[in-house]
Amino acid sequence: MTEAEFLTSTRASYDAIADDYVAFARDDLAAKPMERAVLAGFAEYVRAAGGGPVADIGCGTGRVTAYLHGLGLDAFGIDLSPGMLAAARRDYPELRFEEGSMPALDLPDGKLGGVLAWYSTIHVPGERLPEVFAEFHRVLAPGGEVLLAFQVGDGVLRLEEAIGHSVALDFNRWQPDRIAELLADAGLAVRAKVWRERDTEGDVKERTPQAFLLARKAAG
Ligand SMILES: C[S@@+](CC[C@H](N)C(=O)[O-])C[C@H]1O[C@@H](n2cnc3c(N)ncnc32)[C@H](O)[C@@H]1O
Repeated sequence: MTEAEFLTSTRASYDAIADDYVAFARDDLAAKPMERAVLAGFAEYVRAAGGGPVADIGCGTGRVTAYLHGLGLDAFGIDLSPGMLAAARRDYPELRFEEGSMPALDLPDGKLGGVLAWYSTIHVPGERLPEVFAEFHRVLAPGGEVLLAFQVGDGVLRLEEAIGHSVALDFNRWQPDRIAELLADAGLAVRAKVWRERDTEGDVKERTPQAFLLARKAAG
């Protein structure tokens, strides 16, 4: 069976920008107190539920995996793009990074304390999101937490250029309430919805507001 076109084009696009993405994103979290607060809340909930490994799915260059590690979590990264993974392994040799893709994760059932998808489900077409969230539910232990970050909006933004490279990248925008419904349908009950207005003052002028959704698999 041939691979879905969205995976092939997303992988090739991130392979093309990987080396420049490191510098592009390096200072991002340092300049974003809301994001750091959301990640800290996620880490506390994971610890309160008993810890367990946390998969950063769509980890890219590993910067957020490393941030979670710094918060005391047993975090590892999974990504579609060998180029992004090479940068992650180079910059964070003490952490584990594996190649893999949503929706089919090469992980056992029910073992993870947490799943982070930080601006990665944005590249999954809407009709495939139910499968992705079902997969997150499958790999989480009872009581496990999931945190998503994504741009708020409607429809798809197609980028043909990013950080000076030719790409073919679709950014799927969503309203947080719709994502919350899909998570609930997959058995992941939303416990927090954070909406942040777009930042037009930082180095990168954001096009949209940002959303962060925290959800939990039932304790069983
Ligand atoms: C915008 S980047 C975010 C990277 C990282 N989370 C960060 O915040 O720096 C999106 C990442 O998701 C990965 N990705 C996109 N679709 C994926 C899929 N279906 N499975 C696994 N990773 C995926 C891309 O390769 C890319 O590294």
